[in-house]
Amino acid sequence: MRLDYVSIFPDFFSPLELSLPGKAAAKGLVDVHVHDLRGYTHDRHRTVDDTPYGGGAGMVMKPEPWGEAFDDLLAPTTTVVFTTPSGEPFDQRLAAELATREHLVFACGRYEGIDQRVVDHARERAEVREISLGDYVLNGGEVAALAITEAVVRLLPGFMGNAESLAEESHADGGLLEYPVYTKPPEWRGHEVPAVLRSGDHARVAAWRHEQAVRRTAERRPDLLTPSVLDDGTPIVRAT
Ligand code: ADE
Repeated sequence: MRLDYVSIFPDFFSPLELSLPGKAAAKGLVDVHVHDLRGYTHDRHRTVDDTPYGGGAGMVMKPEPWGEAFDDLLAPTTTVVFTTPSGEPFDQRLAAELATREHLVFACGRYEGIDQRVVDHARERAEVREISLGDYVLNGGEVAALAITEAVVRLLPGFMGNAESLAEESHADGGLLEYPVYTKPPEWRGHEVPAVLRSGDHARVAAWRHEQAVRRTAERRPDLLTPSVLDDGTPIVRAT
């Protein structure tokens, strides 16, 4: 998968050399390119923003530098991701969908946003997704692009050693939240590992984990408890 990032803060993307995406790059699964939007300006001040038509607070990102960046980067096989608080909410389903694409271009806006014609124009040339990380406002789309990247890259075939651990974690298939996990020692600072997990009884362990997952989901994310999630009595088993 090829990944391009367009931003006025290219340094934001140095973490891509570390951690998960770094591992993916080392394995040859992703090919990462970062672009400074100001590199597509032609005036002395490398201007990327201007005042909004219709008035109002703040500045809007000008279309011309984006157009030139897209001239360089977009192909018919490209999916352009605009990170914006007014986009569709990012979730595991969307991460899995993006993981099937061969080329993602992340367009990271700042200020009050990007001139709408940039999005409309990109739609004429490629698939476009406007994506929000959540119902809060960040200073710009860079952190959102990094979070989306990490969620997508770990789903690429060949990235994870054990594909089962992907299928069984929280939010896979929009299911239940993950049950609590424990490791040695059996007692720590007065807190014990639940006895059932040390019983060696696999059926009881599976039933306990399912019950814990349901309880956690009911407490923290009741919106996820659809009848289909609860009807499915499949035990949730974490891969080792
Ligand atoms: N840019 C600013 N806030 C954002 C958010 N919540 N999600 C994605 N991009 C953003």
